[in-house]
Amino acid sequence: MRVSATLAAVAGVLASGASAENYLGFNSGATLADRSAKFKADFLAEFKTAQGLKNSPGKFNAVRLYTNIQAYSKDDPIQAFEAAIETKTKILLGVWTSGTDSIELELSALKKAISKYGKEFTDLVIGMSIGSEDLYRVSETGIKNKAGVGAGPNTLVKFIGDYKKAVANTPLSSVPIGHVDTWDAWTNGTNKAVVDALDWVGVDEYPYYENGKGNNIKNAGKLFDRAFDAVVGAVGGKPIWVTETGWPATGPKWDEAEASVANAKYYWQEIGCRKLFNKVPTFWYNLRDSNPDNEMKFAITENLSTNPLFDLTCPTTFDTPTGTSSTSSPSATGFSSVTVPGSSATGTAGDSSNSGSGSGSGSGTSTDSGSSASTSNGAESSPVVEGGASLGKGLSGAALASLALVAGVFALF
Ligand SMILES: *[C@@H]1O[C@H](CO)[C@@H](O)[C@H](O)[C@H]1NC(C)=O
Ligand SMILES: *[C@@H]1O[C@H](CO)[C@@H](O)[C@H](O)[C@H]1NC(C)=O
Repeated sequence: MRVSATLAAVAGVLASGASAENYLGFNSGATLADRSAKFKADFLAEFKTAQGLKNSPGKFNAVRLYTNIQAYSKDDPIQAFEAAIETKTKILLGVWTSGTDSIELELSALKKAISKYGKEFTDLVIGMSIGSEDLYRVSETGIKNKAGVGAGPNTLVKFIGDYKKAVANTPLSSVPIGHVDTWDAWTNGTNKAVVDALDWVGVDEYPYYENGKGNNIKNAGKLFDRAFDAVVGAVGGKPIWVTETGWPATGPKWDEAEASVANAKYYWQEIGCRKLFNKVPTFWYNLRDSNPDNEMKFAITENLSTNPLFDLTCPTTFDTPTGTSSTSSPSATGFSSVTVPGSSATGTAGDSSNSGSGSGSGSGTSTDSGSSASTSNGAESSPVVEGGASLGKGLSGAALASLALVAGVFALF
């Protein structure tokens, strides 16, 4: 019984899409920095720049969207779809799920796109995320940070069901379904029903915002790996996609973290090159800034120039100690393979606060804007993507139990 169930689960993962590919892309909200709607030409410019970046370590020909709805319309398909078709950009779709008890308008926009563009569109769709950081916003940290309206696990599971029903007889029925959230939403056992309902898990990680953890740039690799490995330990072998990560090039200090072009470059190398690019499906944050409320600017280039702020070339050696992290992510095959963290992983700056006391935790200031899906009531919801929740804060018993399955992770605590 166990064996056949496992085989069925594996078959399900394999059948649920070509997730073996380690996509490279950026995030793209529905609005510009002045909160005006992005139109086809805006998306076209982004996608062309992404694919043309000088010294890029791979082809950034995927995009993560936050909504199917064109900004400020009721349920028109977002014009990013047409731009993606023209540039052959792969699409990680998103449905906005906070502040609503229905995703009907999202589904309506999506169904319109399927019938309008057909295969040209559906062949580009690599995944669907039902929601973005909704669980973070209803978590203790999110509430403390006044992160805005979120949605709990039951709501998300219901929406996942609604989406499945809506696409059951369309080409999207075989597209793998995920949900995007901060890493500590995934290690929170109360959210397990969401993990169970998914084909893959999307994680947003911002070591920059891990205040109280020694979040200077030199520690970013270690902080990233520890959070990533905690998610690996908590999601039972589901493939992990890194759906947002980056380091700001300008902006105020955040505890020990400093925004600078040099640090953004170091982060690109130590996290992107060492850990993610061509190893894990990755959606970098970001190509273009779009949240005027966030003082930290994450764009890796100015005015969508294909000459970025720093040289994107990947180095061959890295500062972050190897062995502090899983060397191969579970993304390609759906199996996790975690190496035992070396003793060098202990004594990092994050240790003291991993006790769960919560002291000094809480980061998650707004990073950049995700989308600005207009809601059914017409109000500008301008959902804001929140950056990195606190590392190790209050790991639940269930999360600790699942961590225990990962040999050696306790060496970190
Ligand atoms: C764990 O998740 C539940 C449901 O999403 C949430 O209500 C709770 O606040 C979370 N726990 C912490 C410590 O944030
Ligand atoms: C980007 O555009 C702004 C506004 O047009 C301009 O002031 C700035 O000089 C441009 N930057 C570059 C590097 O071209």
